[in-house]
Amino acid sequence: MRKKNIVIPKTAEELEGMRTSCKMLGELHARLRELVKPGISTGEIDACGEEWILAHGAKPNFKNYNGYPASICISVNDEVVHGIPKKDRILEEGDIVSLDCGLIYEGWHSDAARTWGVGKIHPNAERLIEDTRKSFFAGAAAAVAGGYLYDISNAVAASLKPGGYGIVRDLTGHGIGRHLHEEPVIPNYKMPPLQRGIRLEAGMTLCVEPMVTLETWRVYWEDDGWTVRTQDGAPAAHYENTIAVRADGLPEILTLMPGEESFTGSETQDP
Ligand code: MF3
Ligand code: CO
Repeated sequence: MRKKNIVIPKTAEELEGMRTSCKMLGELHARLRELVKPGISTGEIDACGEEWILAHGAKPNFKNYNGYPASICISVNDEVVHGIPKKDRILEEGDIVSLDCGLIYEGWHSDAARTWGVGKIHPNAERLIEDTRKSFFAGAAAAVAGGYLYDISNAVAASLKPGGYGIVRDLTGHGIGRHLHEEPVIPNYKMPPLQRGIRLEAGMTLCVEPMVTLETWRVYWEDDGWTVRTQDGAPAAHYENTIAVRADGLPEILTLMPGEESFTGSETQDP
């Protein structure tokens, strides 16, 4: 028997609420990007971000989520996700830093992540960041009504394969809406042929968020209970947007930064 579809698409009105929250988050990411320079601490970035969120009449949805102690997850170099910002963690030239943040506005959650280079970075790190971004768009291009959930997973994985990257398996994307984490779970790795996941429908709001490493996909949790690091110490990148499946065509990317490049047309690959 077919598994019941427990993901409820948003109505047009609900989507409007999601759009407003997500647009605000895109603007926050643009602001945070300006702060990323050698010499700033991750604690300062978090404090500025939290202040910005509150000043815009929203609330940070990460803060106190399962006890997470900050508003923005800031992960440097081999830290993959959920790094805890600290006043004495100073960014240096050559670091790469992943900023993952979200907010709640009028009851609607948004969630997005970007990885930035601090000053000049190693070409391999540049390549990692750019290919992680591209893998998001490859995955998002598969988020079409009538398609299947794991088409997204397989498209992300296929896009990363030529680069020989590690794809983190211990964390996934997710649905979003009135809650930060809703059904479904969205893996970033290739799924077995007979597993297709739920059927995608217009109005579903999803967070697609590849977490990619230069070497091994294996990670461990630090003793702080949050920070996820690569086992081999190689750097990792993260790129995430909240998206909405449309009735026709490519999904709407709700959390783009103002002026940020979206689909280029090269995302869908011939099998
Ligand atoms: N951004 C994370 C995600 O995509 C959520 C972080 S929750 C926190 O699922 F508690 F770590 F902040
Ligand atoms: Co997320």
